[in-house]
Amino acid sequence: MDIPHPAPHLAALDEEDMQQASPAWQAEIDGITTTVCASIDAATTLASLRTAEISAVGRKGQVTELRKRIGSLPKTERRAFGQAVNAAVGRVKTAINARHESLKQALIDAELGDDSFDETMPAQPVNGGTYHPLTLVQRELEDVFASMGYHVMDFPEVDSEFYNFEGLNIPGWHPARDMQDTFWLDDGHLLRTHTSTGQVRAMHLFKPPFRAVFPGKVYRYEATDASHEHTFHQVEGLMVAKHVSVAHLLDSMRTLLSAIFGRDVQVRLRPGYFPFVEPGFELDISCQVCGGPGCAVCKKSGWVELLPCGLVHPNVLRAGGLDPDEWQGWAFGLGLSRLVMMRYAISDIRLLLGGDVRFLEQFERGV
Ligand code: DAH
Repeated sequence: MDIPHPAPHLAALDEEDMQQASPAWQAEIDGITTTVCASIDAATTLASLRTAEISAVGRKGQVTELRKRIGSLPKTERRAFGQAVNAAVGRVKTAINARHESLKQALIDAELGDDSFDETMPAQPVNGGTYHPLTLVQRELEDVFASMGYHVMDFPEVDSEFYNFEGLNIPGWHPARDMQDTFWLDDGHLLRTHTSTGQVRAMHLFKPPFRAVFPGKVYRYEATDASHEHTFHQVEGLMVAKHVSVAHLLDSMRTLLSAIFGRDVQVRLRPGYFPFVEPGFELDISCQVCGGPGCAVCKKSGWVELLPCGLVHPNVLRAGGLDPDEWQGWAFGLGLSRLVMMRYAISDIRLLLGGDVRFLEQFERGV
């Protein structure tokens, strides 16, 4: 049977042609690529693989450097040369990936084969970082309150106008709104200006009597300085029961402050106006940064406003669905950021959320 086959002379001619068409640089590229791939295959660690990778296809790697030669070639060869170098880079990268996979697998196999390796052990953090001073003090406060029977709640930072203003007896026309301008969302929601949003929320959530605290971040449209930030932290407290008086409020605030400071701190009480409490008070503590003579934190007065408080306004109880003839309450809004500044003698509130590691590293380590 006559089986067709290429004429031997034609096949020979093809090969010869190809050899002739293959310019000198092709052999050089192939040579370099082969050497480089050999050194990649010979890498025994991920680090040495990386070194081999850099010396092959890094910015000044052997294969990368080849590209520079393109300018010295005749125009007709440049396209083929570029394609050849690209192909070489592709070959090298395939070799790197393959070697990387096998080295990684070898590491995993070694660990699994080692009886002393316990994969159920929690990972060892390399650098645990430090706790933020706000976290430290907030956790401490939460412990104090939880030990006194308070629920610790986390309410939304984006809230409705109702929980932030109306429900707290601050209708749209009220001048108190000007003092607490904030960031508004297009859909009418806002970034809460205070943790007092939790008052009506807690009334909707718990059956009285109850006591709860709600720490968190609050926002104001504010010009910033050493004692004002557009974002800061508060802890709100609320107690609702059948018979609540100013005496209960004061005693609770004193217990609270001595637990926080671990010693007696000088306090003073002034009447204060807040639409959601009646009567309302400003509880100030002596400035713990300067100790009295006056500094930037206490605005040179020696006193720091720390704890506005009062008896819950009947309209707020109503907004929370409670009958003011049956239920009463007290509330406070502790300036957590201020408290942190007092505790650690921090003279500028902007340090708290400024993100400067040199500041943050001074606090308790996470591990
Ligand atoms: N929400 C008020 C503010 O941020 C602080 C405040 C005042 C909270 C009196 C209260 C309170 O619970 O009774 O300025």
